[in-house]
Amino acid sequence: MKSGLEDVVAAETVLSDVDGKNGRLIVRGVSLDDLVANSRYEDVVGLLFDGFLPSPPDLRAALGAARVAVFPHLAGAVGLKDLSPVEGMRALLARLADGDDLPTALELVAAPAVFTAGLLRLKAGLAPVSPDPALSMAADTLRMVHGAVPTEQQVAALDRYLVTVADHGLNASTFAARVVASTQAGLTSSVLAALSALKGPLHGGAPGPVLDMLDSVGSPGNAGKWLDEALAGGERLMGFGHRVYRVRDPRADALKGAVRMLAASGAIDPARLALAEAVEAAALDLLRRKKPDRALDTNVEFYTALLLEALGFPREAFTCVFAVGRVAGWIAHAREQALDGRLIRPMSVYVGPVPRVAAE
Ligand code: CMC
Repeated sequence: MKSGLEDVVAAETVLSDVDGKNGRLIVRGVSLDDLVANSRYEDVVGLLFDGFLPSPPDLRAALGAARVAVFPHLAGAVGLKDLSPVEGMRALLARLADGDDLPTALELVAAPAVFTAGLLRLKAGLAPVSPDPALSMAADTLRMVHGAVPTEQQVAALDRYLVTVADHGLNASTFAARVVASTQAGLTSSVLAALSALKGPLHGGAPGPVLDMLDSVGSPGNAGKWLDEALAGGERLMGFGHRVYRVRDPRADALKGAVRMLAASGAIDPARLALAEAVEAAALDLLRRKKPDRALDTNVEFYTALLLEALGFPREAFTCVFAVGRVAGWIAHAREQALDGRLIRPMSVYVGPVPRVAAE
């Protein structure tokens, strides 16, 4: 029995294939490289939903209308401002009615963006900015967070991020979504379960700690010493290692590309990028030497951290932005599982005490 269920196949899916040996990701027949080069987030939502939910004639407009529809749920959310953003989002998502239909799915795709932005504004003592249904999800998310029209480069960078993280096989949050969907509980329940799984630092909670690590390292020259001490103290280096990839996570390069794009437009301090690259190089060198039996490489979260920081998201909200993209995958997987109709109910092995046999 493997307690992490590694190598256990628990679903057949047409949605995505994570090839951990060769470092490739395919989403419904399209490679990640093609996806980031040619698709907007809305295209990927359409790709994932195809065959699982009816297709609205204009998905971008439908998602814009869904953002407007969920915005009123922020009324009275000021009481949530002392929670972490992801906990605030979980509370707000729980206000949405359960269902398996297209309107529920669209509201669930729209909600993480609207709620992340609204909660951040409330935390800063500002009023939430109402959605502009004419904009793309990426552009409107940035606009609702900052209360200002973003630049083309910022929109392109967030769009690339959302496309990159939209789906990724049977990761912990997607599996949680599928388990709930297998009980026919409804999409909102699936998304709530998935968000709760995403929150942990071993899954979607890593990019904030990546920035904490960069801050502690301080300068490129200190990277080797700092990381060596951290490993000697038994710490895990955030942004490195993966359950499935035995080579570099292809999403890390897609996002590194976006980070470089932002750096070229002056949106990232070159010193910050140089520090990150020095930390990455030192970490890879140390991990190869200290953990020779385990191939540990850069994962998606490392450059996510730099990207989202450059886009002005506070680090405590990074997991919420992950959810803005991944919610599309959760919903598609939940629909795929529910349509399969089979309840997920594995077995456990009892290793506890056995009852005493009564004396005769
Ligand atoms: N730093 C140092 N050592 C590590 C790391 C790391 N980041 N990751 C794994 N190891 C070591 C671990 O200590 C163990 O060593 P040993 O055999 O000597 O005890 C060995 O590698 C195997 O570890 P494991 O816990 O069996 O591996 P796993 O498949 O459960 O780990 C992971 C996957 C992502 C939880 C882990 O690599 C990790 O904790 N990484 C840091 C957190 C992080 O970056 N999370 C984001 C993951 S990517 C986003 C997503 O797709 O969810």
